[in-house]
Order: sequence, then structure tokens, then C-alpha cells
Amino acid sequence: MSSLYFSSHAMPLRVPSYCCFELGDCSDVDYESYKIALLKKGIVLIHLGFSDDSAEVMEDIVSTIGLVHEHDSLGRTIWDVRIGGETGNEALAISHSDREFFLHNDGAFESEMPGYFGLFVVHADMHGGGENILVCADRIIESLSDKTFQILSTNKFKLRVPEEFRKSSDFIEASLIDESHGFRYRYDIIERGYCSSDELKALHELELKISLPHNMFKVRLNNNQILLLDNRRYLHARTGIKDRKRHLKRIRFNMPATLRVA
Ligand SMILES: [Fe+2]
Repeated sequence: MSSLYFSSHAMPLRVPSYCCFELGDCSDVDYESYKIALLKKGIVLIHLGFSDDSAEVMEDIVSTIGLVHEHDSLGRTIWDVRIGGETGNEALAISHSDREFFLHNDGAFESEMPGYFGLFVVHADMHGGGENILVCADRIIESLSDKTFQILSTNKFKLRVPEEFRKSSDFIEASLIDESHGFRYRYDIIERGYCSSDELKALHELELKISLPHNMFKVRLNNNQILLLDNRRYLHARTGIKDRKRHLKRIRFNMPATLRVA
């Protein structure tokens, strides 16, 4: 069953006002407040009152409050998410297709998983598709049985690196819940053939909990909006795309857990 089967019943996410910002022009950028909101709640929404199709504002914010990841061997830090990808032919990654992208953490197959990511909406899906669905790790962890929590946070699972992201190794081994109770999860990379029956039961319980509509929240993003998200504190997903012009800019970063901007 798709993890998004019940997502149409998900409620809109209620975000505290200290996580939401309006930016009239570049002189209003409030780095410290974005960082505080990210550390406290794991989410920041910034609405730009102007267009910024190359996402320079997002890149400036992220590189000031954190350490930006290089996306590829060309040294790019920002990349495009749209059907067909940068060239129109990058169909391998699910994010560049029009298909639903089930709940996951970005880079769950990387030994150093990115702590945060940002996205900027150049062109939102105007036909009601491409909706962002979030599941909060804290809420799920509280609802897991003790045995399942122990297995997911202690046992190492074999995770396959998807072909399109493979560099040196084909697999990594990692727990699915880290010491800060953040998630490392993506349905299709878990090598279930190597799991014990207790591990399979724990996975089943986790996957049942994250597929329940009362654990899912929708975030509707409009043109010229930036979303910054804690990649471990939230699982995210995207419903199928209906508008072929949908276009996002993406970036990943890490951030030290201190409140002062460097
Ligand atoms: Fe993602």
C-alpha cells in the first residue's frame, strides 16, 4: 500500500508564527530568527514579495546560517526539481518524474545524511498536484511500542544506495532512528531480505503509523515561497504532479546547534 494512500485526509500543518516570515526586500533578511525557528521547531516558511527565479535569497540564507552541501561533482549547490530535471531527460530520480514520491528523509542512503534542506517554489503546481506531506518524527516515536522503538533505534539495517546516487558503495548500514530521535527512512532502500522477523514486524508497525492520516500534515506552498526543513525531524513526501510546469529549486545544508549566526 502506498504510504500516501490516505494523504487526502491529512490536515494542514499549523506552524507557529515565529516560523513564518514575509520578506519585502533583501534588506529584511533576519538570519538569526530563521535559525532559531529551525532549531526550535524544525521548519521555516518565508514568503518573498518579489520573484527570485535563481533562488539567490535562499542560497544566501542557507549559506549564512549553515554549511551548504555540494549536490554533484560539478560543485552545484542548488538544483532544479521539475519533470525531466535540469536537461529534460533526468528521469531516473523520482523527484524528476511526475510520480508520487513516498515518505522519506532526503539522503537516507548517505552515511552523512543532510541535516536540513530548503526548497524555493519558482512555479507551484496550479492543478492541485505536487502537494507536500510531512510526518513529524516526535509524534511517531511517541506512538511506537517499546520493542519497535528499541529495534529501530539499535539494530543496523542494510540500506541500498539508489543507482542514480551511487558513488563508491552500493549499501550502507544504519539504524532508522538516531540518538536524537530523528529518522533515517525511505521505503524502497531497505533490504528486507536481510531483516529478522522482529525487524520486519518493527518496520511494519512504523509503516502503519506513518501512513495514518492523523499523523500526516499538508503544507501548501505558493510561488516565491521558501521552505526550510529539518530533514531528520520530519519525513516528507510529495503527491503526484499534475502541472508539468511545476518547478522548484532545492538545496541541502547542515547547521551547528547554536543560536548565534556566524
Ligand atoms: Fe525529498
